[in-house]
Amino acid sequence: MSLLTLLEADLLKIVNDLGYDIDTVKLEKSKLPEYGEYQINTAMMLAKRYGENPRDVAEKIVAHLDDRFTNVNIQGPGFINVTLKEETILDYLNKGIEDFSIFVDKPNKSRTIVMDYGGANIAKELHVGHLRCNIGEAMRRLLKVFGDKPISDVHWGDFGTPIGLVIREIQEMQPDLPYFDKDYKGEYPSTSPVTNEELGIIYPRASKRKKEDEAYAEEAKSFTEQFQKGVPGIRALWRHIVDTSKPHCQAIYDFLNCKFDLSYGESDADRYADETIEFLSSKGLTRMSDGILIMDVNQSDDNKKMPPLLLKKSNGSILYDTTDLATIKERMEDFNPDAIWYFVDERQNLHFEQTFRGCYKSGLVPPSTELKFFGFGTINGPDGKPFKTRDGGVMSLEGLIKLVYDHIEPKIKENITGDERTEIASKLTVATLKYSDLLPARKTDYIFDVDKFTSFEGRTGVYAVYTTTRLKSLLNKFEDKKYIMKCVPNKDTLDILVKLTELSKTLTSAYNDVSTNYICEYIYDLASLYNKFYANNNIANESNKEYQETYIALSKLVYNVLHNLLDILGIEEVEKM
Ligand code: ARG
Repeated sequence: MSLLTLLEADLLKIVNDLGYDIDTVKLEKSKLPEYGEYQINTAMMLAKRYGENPRDVAEKIVAHLDDRFTNVNIQGPGFINVTLKEETILDYLNKGIEDFSIFVDKPNKSRTIVMDYGGANIAKELHVGHLRCNIGEAMRRLLKVFGDKPISDVHWGDFGTPIGLVIREIQEMQPDLPYFDKDYKGEYPSTSPVTNEELGIIYPRASKRKKEDEAYAEEAKSFTEQFQKGVPGIRALWRHIVDTSKPHCQAIYDFLNCKFDLSYGESDADRYADETIEFLSSKGLTRMSDGILIMDVNQSDDNKKMPPLLLKKSNGSILYDTTDLATIKERMEDFNPDAIWYFVDERQNLHFEQTFRGCYKSGLVPPSTELKFFGFGTINGPDGKPFKTRDGGVMSLEGLIKLVYDHIEPKIKENITGDERTEIASKLTVATLKYSDLLPARKTDYIFDVDKFTSFEGRTGVYAVYTTTRLKSLLNKFEDKKYIMKCVPNKDTLDILVKLTELSKTLTSAYNDVSTNYICEYIYDLASLYNKFYANNNIANESNKEYQETYIALSKLVYNVLHNLLDILGIEEVEKM
């Protein structure tokens, strides 16, 4: 348990023992540090509730504070200001040199949470928006730190219309392939008729033609229907397309350190589709409308339009809504989770609201399971519009990775060469992409400013990683043994210590609010304080041995904290850069 949480529990006991019936007392960072590092602002609230004088209430609380609190004073109407005794802070933080868990206030109950993020669409290139899988990944790591059981699922988009289009285009290019011959009785070829590079060209071409040629669009739709139904030739070709495209998408997820426990796709939910539809129908919740089986999910108090869920077309094909409902059924059966969380583009908000309503209304999901959508904003180009390449095309995620890599690589020291240079540049690229993606509030759109994001200064992944590299090379100069912080030699040290006592609150906020940006901000603040301390103090030549040991221990502590926080973001360190 963290120091602040422990102290807050003790303060609560004091207040309760004084006869006030409340359930939390907060020890907050002071807004007036000249009166003390922390504030307790409970007295005013209690005075109001119990009809007493706030200063008297404050006096009563203060009378019971033990010697872990120093410099206790009351300001204004009843603000209690305190400073924590150095020994109390040092005892606590010395444990953190080895053990990050002292910063984590784990809840009593651990939850099983299925996390849906990634969502790459087979046969289409990943685009810049797919970078935002980093949010789900960071949250997965944070949940683990807090003792939950996250189960991440990439949920491949492998069963929808894009693949029908690609098949139609392949037919155009290679009409004689046996997959298109209805009377073909032999075995289908074991290798794919198209490469991944070809798919990269085929999909955009097909998608363009679909808009111009209605018959073509209809034929593509019919292919979608056929592979969904399992018509052998088309299904075999579908399999080749999936097997060709998937490893390529997977490689990008691997590069970005995104780890999926499950590699299911929309197609895996297909076997639950009929059951799901039957279930909804058995509850009397479905009806036919314009040849489509639908389920109404609107409510009388809706203040916006709430369209029905679309379940099945007259030709038998299922839709995006059906797949998500079926996937939820599958996840409930497999894991009976406490929650299913979706990290998806904010523009899909309505789809998920409809889906969740359908689940609760029908009883497909019990009220005790939380279905929650965490929408994220768009990544824009320097002009504030959707990111385009120089020739006006859509920026692929690979293109973005390359752009960052090309900015970072020249900044690495010249004497680092060969594979080592490539590896370091790659890790710094990932650090840049992740940090800049996790820093803004989740829902806001942001402009990808490659110069700013690859800078060695400011709120960037490189700055954070650079600080750990500096720490490691400093620590390498000293014998590897146990060091303990013994005193607080100066203000630079104190500032870092106070910041570290706040870490538990930052982590709890990030966890409760599902917001990785708090962690990014914290990393920046801590790294800045440390770098200031490093510039002002000559650790290697410090003659006072007690100070020197404290500095080394403090450096180890800061390193351990940054290391763990970067790991939550999915960022790896480097030995040099
Ligand atoms: N493949 C989808 C898309 O790109 C995202 C999938 C999100 N997850 C889900 N369960 N629908 O739009």
